[in-house]
Amino acid sequence: MSASTSDWRSFRLDQSSAEADLQQLGKAKAALDVRVALSQDSARLETLSWALPGLYVDASKQRWDSEVVNALLQLAKEAGVPQAIADQFGGAPINHTEGRAVMHMALRGQASDAYEVDGQDVMPGVLDVRGRMLDFVDRVHDAHAHGRVTDVVNIGIGGSDLGPAMACKALRKFRSGPRTHFVSNVDGAHIEAVLAGLNPATTYVVVVSKTFTTQETMANAAIAKAWLEAGGATLSEQLVAVSTNLVATQAFGVLPAQTFGFENWVGGRYSMWGPVGLCIAVAVGRSNFELFLEGAREVDTHVRHTALKDNVPVMLALLGHWNQNVMGWRSHAVIPYAEDLSRLPAYLQQADMESNGKSVGRTGEKISWNSGAVVWGEPGTNSQHAFFQLLHQGTEIHPVDFVAFKAPTSGHDHMHELLLSNAIAQSEALLTGKTPAADEPHRLFEGNRPSTFMLFDALTPKALGQLIAMHEHRIFVQGVLWGIASYDQWGVELGKALANALIPEIRGEVAEGAHDPSTSKLVSLVRR
Ligand code: F6P
Repeated sequence: MSASTSDWRSFRLDQSSAEADLQQLGKAKAALDVRVALSQDSARLETLSWALPGLYVDASKQRWDSEVVNALLQLAKEAGVPQAIADQFGGAPINHTEGRAVMHMALRGQASDAYEVDGQDVMPGVLDVRGRMLDFVDRVHDAHAHGRVTDVVNIGIGGSDLGPAMACKALRKFRSGPRTHFVSNVDGAHIEAVLAGLNPATTYVVVVSKTFTTQETMANAAIAKAWLEAGGATLSEQLVAVSTNLVATQAFGVLPAQTFGFENWVGGRYSMWGPVGLCIAVAVGRSNFELFLEGAREVDTHVRHTALKDNVPVMLALLGHWNQNVMGWRSHAVIPYAEDLSRLPAYLQQADMESNGKSVGRTGEKISWNSGAVVWGEPGTNSQHAFFQLLHQGTEIHPVDFVAFKAPTSGHDHMHELLLSNAIAQSEALLTGKTPAADEPHRLFEGNRPSTFMLFDALTPKALGQLIAMHEHRIFVQGVLWGIASYDQWGVELGKALANALIPEIRGEVAEGAHDPSTSKLVSLVRR
């Protein structure tokens, strides 16, 4: 599919007649009682749920209906969602503030996908690096089998940490290689705690950084390299780098043969499908990593070729818009009923909030509607004993995504029955609520609280690939509806610059600079 320019780039929600209709509809639907709707409308469940291979998504407990869906589909058309999707897959430079195409889908692609950036098929390059990376993984597995490698430490932050860390934990049952560890924080306590238990003679260190300039990562990488050296490690084998900046990786002392590159058309938080996912491949092995990519690729095919109304990421994006901007529910809780998936909320916080936490539109004007939701969550059932009180009885509504798996995630089948009962019961309780006796008003559960239930067959590499790719596309489509640039992250720059400027002040190397009184006081309290 070729790239083209179209209206979606200049779409503004406040000039959309479909959005005006939706706002009108919202007034009527605010009072929609989903309990009544589900009992009276026999088609509701069918209309508001979808199936993909190995996955059932039920959004029938959300406060919407087919009338709302039709209005949302109208909005998607007005916003140019189909063209935006085509342009992304066509390699158009849709990341306009950085002048880049967005082509992370190629990292999970096959030769036949022939994805193009700047008129060049990128698949040969992608497959070459993937081949080198998976050969490396085979060698590490062989060395592991012979006791020469016991541990691999991933040093990176943000997109160079959260996805791989989440996936390595999620795929615990598929582990076959050495243990994987993750160091991200610039707090020295993080690397100290991780390295304390490891032997430098049998540990590989993988420094993952798109830019290879990130303060946290470079500080941790220097410590890890020195630790390897002091421990008599063979750096030419045990030090590995993943980056787009091959000059910097070499300057850091990583051999080209130990370096895996990728291109600027891969955003950091969308990068775990390629070399940034090296530790995932190390943890689960070649074939499981390929299944992980395959699951995501299936979703790419789905999003690209499925009509809007049956397109799951598009429908979830529209639902998110409805909840955010029409119902006015500003947060989005994600509750994985799987301990292995405990890092999913943290991963999604970056994927979603770094992408869609924007208040200036693509046209350069401030937007007057809500963009990225506050994403949060913890695994069930722990979360039930923490913040579910507020979800059930708090003053505000927070839509919930339940993520659960039919197959047990452990060898303890009877516990999986408990886990699933809890997940389903919570979605039921949020919906049905409970009317208490007159003298017990504190026992009131209003109910009619919205949730979506994602039920996968099993927590497999393929299912994980599907889940993450679904969110990636959902996030992009929401950015299109909201007219924002989902693929840049300028909002993280100011803090980085100020922190760098403060370092010499805090070290006492220069005089204290001019700050506001509050900041000045803090600097003076910690200054050496
Ligand atoms: O926090 C901002 C950010 O730029 C993220 O977008 C990125 O994933 C992370 O820092 C790490 O960047 P790098 O991979 O270049 O070290």
